[in-house]
Amino acid sequence: MSEKRELWSDVDRYVEDVLLGHDAALDHAATASRAAGLPDIAVAPNQGKLLNLIARMIGARRILEVGTLGGYSAIWLARALPEGGELVTLEYDPKHAEVARANIAAAGLADRATVITGAALDTLPTLKGPFDLAFIDADKKSNPDYFAWALKLSRKGGVIVVDNVVREGRVIDAESRDENVLGIRRLNEMMAAETRVSATALQTVGVKGHDGLAIALVVADE
Ligand code: SAH
Ligand code: DHB
Ligand code: MG
Repeated sequence: MSEKRELWSDVDRYVEDVLLGHDAALDHAATASRAAGLPDIAVAPNQGKLLNLIARMIGARRILEVGTLGGYSAIWLARALPEGGELVTLEYDPKHAEVARANIAAAGLADRATVITGAALDTLPTLKGPFDLAFIDADKKSNPDYFAWALKLSRKGGVIVVDNVVREGRVIDAESRDENVLGIRRLNEMMAAETRVSATALQTVGVKGHDGLAIALVVADE
């Protein structure tokens, strides 16, 4: 690991220690996901807290997530919900979905979080909006389709967050043939051209390396 990357990780851990503290349900979700052999690609703790804060800032009552993995970000999001609120999270891999359901139940959130198994492009058309917040974090090549669905299912004033939009800077390679990079670039073009949203993207460094988040505010219904 490069010296810089080590420093980024140390700062993330410092932020976690000082500002977030440690949490049994989230630590359990991370440990159980690792034990089940899931890849180590959940959001970092400080990113999970950011998602939680965004949900609370906008008073989100219904949240959509695309890409559940072991339910780590889902737990951060579901915890932001008021009584009667709902998180719907979509996961392709049945094994990931099963681990996520167990982690969500262990966190005491089974009453407000539903994991739907299947390819998101098959399950999104079965959902009823509106959602207040969407978090897109699945296969990056489909980001343009996920963004179109999230927008369709959002209310005015809603927020759409997309993970992994920088990928160590690979996003700026206009010649890239990598379908994930193409998906992210196309997403950015869509957000720029779409009059119903106002968007930005932020680079992040930390335990997850150099990556970034896009955030779009839905400013109009049509
Ligand atoms: N949001 C999670 C991380 C998700 S990782 C967290 O931060 O904790 C990406 C997930 O998307 C993986 O579990 C992967 O199986 C899932 N995925 C990939 N392709 C998908 C598809 N077509 N539909 C739904 N989920 C998909
Ligand atoms: C990958 C996916 C993610 O959602 C992430 O946060 C990091 C990496 C991946 O597929 O490599
Ligand atoms: Mg991600």
